[in-house]
Amino acid sequence: MSSQKEIFNPLDPHTIRDPYPVYRQLRETDPVHWHEQLGAWILTRHADCLEALKNSAVFAADFRKVGIPTPGPLLSLQTLDPPDQTPLRHFAVDALRSQDLGALERNAVERAERLLDDLAGRDSIDFVSDYATPFTLGTISDLVGMPPPEKDEQWRQRNDELHRSMDAGLDPNSEEAGLTARQHFSDFVARWLATGPTEGISGYVAANSSKVDYPPNVLYNSLRAFWHAGFEVPARFLGNALTTLLANPDALEQMWSDVDTGVEELVRFSGPVHVVSRVCTEDTTLGGARLRKGDMVVIVLAAANRDPARFDRPEELVMNRAPNPHLGFGRGTHSCLGNIIARIEGRVALTAVLKRYPDLRVNGETHFWENATLRGHSSIPLSLAGAVPVAS
Ligand code: HEM
Repeated sequence: MSSQKEIFNPLDPHTIRDPYPVYRQLRETDPVHWHEQLGAWILTRHADCLEALKNSAVFAADFRKVGIPTPGPLLSLQTLDPPDQTPLRHFAVDALRSQDLGALERNAVERAERLLDDLAGRDSIDFVSDYATPFTLGTISDLVGMPPPEKDEQWRQRNDELHRSMDAGLDPNSEEAGLTARQHFSDFVARWLATGPTEGISGYVAANSSKVDYPPNVLYNSLRAFWHAGFEVPARFLGNALTTLLANPDALEQMWSDVDTGVEELVRFSGPVHVVSRVCTEDTTLGGARLRKGDMVVIVLAAANRDPARFDRPEELVMNRAPNPHLGFGRGTHSCLGNIIARIEGRVALTAVLKRYPDLRVNGETHFWENATLRGHSSIPLSLAGAVPVAS
């Protein structure tokens, strides 16, 4: 285990703003790094991250396998591993396949245009709260067939608590409030299912839940996880992607020749999910290090996505990069269930705003959420005044 002075302080303000230099340093100097404060191994090489993601028997999401209890609100398809997770994961995939994604995309295009129409008279906007978040929240509500809860102070507080608790490894005080917030949102989902929805994923779950044999709270928590991941994560992606594109005008120009390939590269280059965690279920070796049963493992997807051993010109935005074996959507049994939706959202939302405002500019200081797990902006001020709107 390394005894060097800790170089990785994920919540340091400089690291929050730009974590990539320290990821590079770790990958080059200590790619399987023991982090004393986190009590975890930090993986930054693509090959090591991929190995851990693909081997859920040894690198488990279900911490109960090593005797660490999983609190009730966390029990979901995210914290079960095969074979326990398999029927639930298949059920979720079937629920998604039963949806009309063509209609979802058409509605998403209309939603984006409508949001932009509503903003048209303004000189300046906040991209995050005025566009990205309402867009992704509207899209996930459409997909799940569940209206969003009222966006009042309680919503903001719960949402904030849930996010803070993603970094509970760094800030254990955030854990309890995060559990309460998750329970609050699961209760919201349970109340909605009790109304007998017929549309969207919730309609599918209400009609077919007898096909799978899980306690109700596991179903509620899983639908909550799907719903919550379905708006927060893509909203952060859109902010990261927009600021990246505005800082790289040549890449933005190139994106129009193949938007889907461009969106994929944006997920690699500035994807929002920076880390995921697992626990070792047995003594093992990884990347030359010896890990023990019970050791925590933090898989830094965002570091793996810039590993020169896997990507040519990893620090450059290469909009026509193909193949692009990035880990931005994870890999293996917990890989992103909503990746198709995320790709639709990226394509639709970025195209709508950038086609209408080709001269869009950031107009002030951007701010990041203080979050090391899910990287993204809390605000991106944009000027519409100098930008020339193009009729849609
Ligand atoms: C750009 C947007 C998105 C990115 C970068 C992203 C990324 C990820 C990643 C990296 C994981 C793996 C977590 C792990 O291995 O522990 C994941 C899981 C997941 N994502 Fe996404 N996601 C995005 C959007 C979405 C959307 C739109 C939805 C729903 C519509 C969604 C639903 C889920 C769910 C339910 C899981 C858990 C799957 C499981 O544990 O079996 N995600 N996502």
